[in-house]
Amino acid sequence: MAGNWKMYKTPADTTQFFEKFRPLAANSEHCEIVICPPFTSLAAAVDAVRGTRIRVGAQNIAWAKEGAFTGEISGAMITAVGATHAIVGHSERRQYFNETDETVLKRTQAALEAGLAPIVCVGERLEERESGNTEAVLVAQFQKGIAGLSELQFAKIVIAYEPVWAIGTGKTATPEIAADAHRTIRAQVREKYGKDAADAVRILYGGSVKPDNVKALMAQPEIDGTLVGGASLDAVGFASIVNF
Ligand code: PGA
Repeated sequence: MAGNWKMYKTPADTTQFFEKFRPLAANSEHCEIVICPPFTSLAAAVDAVRGTRIRVGAQNIAWAKEGAFTGEISGAMITAVGATHAIVGHSERRQYFNETDETVLKRTQAALEAGLAPIVCVGERLEERESGNTEAVLVAQFQKGIAGLSELQFAKIVIAYEPVWAIGTGKTATPEIAADAHRTIRAQVREKYGKDAADAVRILYGGSVKPDNVKALMAQPEIDGTLVGGASLDAVGFASIVNF
């Protein structure tokens, strides 16, 4: 269960969140928990989760190890503060910051090289779904991005299916729609990396996941977890998602 805080919460807000969230998540051995705060709150988050099973991730990662890349943060910088994960290719990065399948692949490889677990996002836009192109879009994103990973690299990633029309809109994909898309993605994995990889890979659903819809989503065997934006900002709310 992953929380993506997007551009919310200062270090002080982060500390406050975890004071509330830690005890509420203390009995959640059934799942892994990762919270992805903004870069500037990573250190506060790592401090706050010390001694717990909760992990901390970045929301993006540079594709280069270092260099003249103003505004970028490298894998080594992320691991140096104690984070263990990195979201790559979030639809907001694709939509507003020109992220492409090619850069998603490069960033995923950089995360793996740094020893971070990448959470790689794919998902179709509203007009793509409405024109019946969901499957084609997911296949293309997989083929041009993720499929560039070696088998060894692929084994270390988590995939997140995030239909763009469901993100921050309050419109959750029905559990059936989400499961359908997960099946499409898993079929791609099977074709490229084989049955064992397809069985093992974890595919998260993201897009308006809330305490009151998480149970129905998680009841789908295809859905292995969730990537939660808005509802992860509230400690009590996110704890009830984690403890669905
Ligand atoms: P949301 O965001 O839960 O606020 O829809 C999900 C995401 O962007 O990961």
